[in-house]
Amino acid sequence: MMKLCFWAFAISLLSSIAAVPNAVPTERISGSAGDVLEDNPVGRLKVYVYDLPSKYNKKTLQKDPRCLTHMFAAEIYMHRFLLNSPVRTLNPDEADWFYTPIYVTCDLTPNGLPLPFKSPRMMRSAIQLISSNWPYWNRTEGADHFFVVPHDFGACFHYQEEKAIDRGILPLLQRATLVQTFGQRHHVCLNEGSITIPPYCPPQKMKTHLIPPETPRSIFVYFRGLFYDVNNDPEGGYYARGARAAVWENFKNNPLFDISTDHPTTYYEDMQRAIFCLCPLGWAPWSPRLVEAVVFGCIPVIIADDIVLPFADAIPWEEIGVFVDEKDVSNLDTILTSIPPDVILRKQRLLANPSMKRAMMFPQPAQSGDAFHQILNGLARKLPHDKGIYLKPGERILNWTAGPVGDLKPW
Ligand SMILES: *[C@@H]1O[C@H](CO)[C@@H](O)[C@H](O)[C@H]1NC(C)=O
Ligand SMILES: *[C@@H]1O[C@H](CO)[C@@H](O)[C@H](O)[C@H]1NC(C)=O
Repeated sequence: MMKLCFWAFAISLLSSIAAVPNAVPTERISGSAGDVLEDNPVGRLKVYVYDLPSKYNKKTLQKDPRCLTHMFAAEIYMHRFLLNSPVRTLNPDEADWFYTPIYVTCDLTPNGLPLPFKSPRMMRSAIQLISSNWPYWNRTEGADHFFVVPHDFGACFHYQEEKAIDRGILPLLQRATLVQTFGQRHHVCLNEGSITIPPYCPPQKMKTHLIPPETPRSIFVYFRGLFYDVNNDPEGGYYARGARAAVWENFKNNPLFDISTDHPTTYYEDMQRAIFCLCPLGWAPWSPRLVEAVVFGCIPVIIADDIVLPFADAIPWEEIGVFVDEKDVSNLDTILTSIPPDVILRKQRLLANPSMKRAMMFPQPAQSGDAFHQILNGLARKLPHDKGIYLKPGERILNWTAGPVGDLKPW
């Protein structure tokens, strides 16, 4: 009897919300840093782009053009963006920030997975070069430099968490500001002061799949993707920390849950027909699920304890999404059906704000308010630099021989 009531309730809820079309009015967005999503960074910071030999950037891309469409492609587009950005200065003496254009994740296996094994040596080699050819690195040992390190565990440079933790952040990058997709609180691979960014999702491709905004949202919960990493983790305890396996085991037969491993050609359209999109993210927001949900106005259901989401000081994720603790996944149906319709409508209004969607994308050409601009805004908010970052003459803090011996080999 209880069960029956529950379903009757769920279905009436679904039918009342299904009437909510995609075209909902928008609402302004402010994060903990204030109403900053639409800030214009021009005039608030100056960035000097080091001119490095092309073997650190363009040549690696020539070897493998797939790096341009990979989810870590932000490292390449950020370089291109900065070269033509009005915040760029050609005079390093007036720069607030120094940027080293280096494509550390552009080393893909035949299957397209990035291998981070050469990254530490490549990074070390680049830092050696900038520190001997320009005076700016030695002034602060990197404290006014930023690096884009979009790999799985950022500057820990390993895709297995245990190994990444063992390695820690590359010692030479300890003082730099890291711009990374990896974001997990209390984790050695996330430094205080890092900027967490979304993964790269192809903007043109997503645009071609937009459906008419008046289309009703008739799917309650939607997810497409793997539930188990059959090769590396058949039991499902490690992959996405078991959250995906738990979703599947609990809800594979639940009619409110449209979940499957099949990736239909209507994938992007389906997200625009759904009210909730599951984002079982594991350790980091690098899954494209979050970006897709936001772009398509589907409320992201974030299952990832302690995650640090992209631009979290500018975007009020708690108000936009639904956060479900990993231990509560088995109650997802009750949790989602108990959210009052007016709360759902408010989240949909916030998601409909175009500034929210823009902040998640790296479009070509860049647009004001996009992810490039959010990175610059984040850097601008860190200014002015603390006077304490400048070292006294002869003072040295970094240890050039720390870290695994293998990293010390020339690149
Ligand atoms: C920076 O310091 C290193 C040693 O710590 C030195 O080898 C290098 O020449 C210095 N760079 C400049 C531009 O003086
Ligand atoms: C630098 O690191 C190496 C390797 O861990 C260590 O042997 C050495 O003592 C350290 N140097 C300083 C000055 O701390």
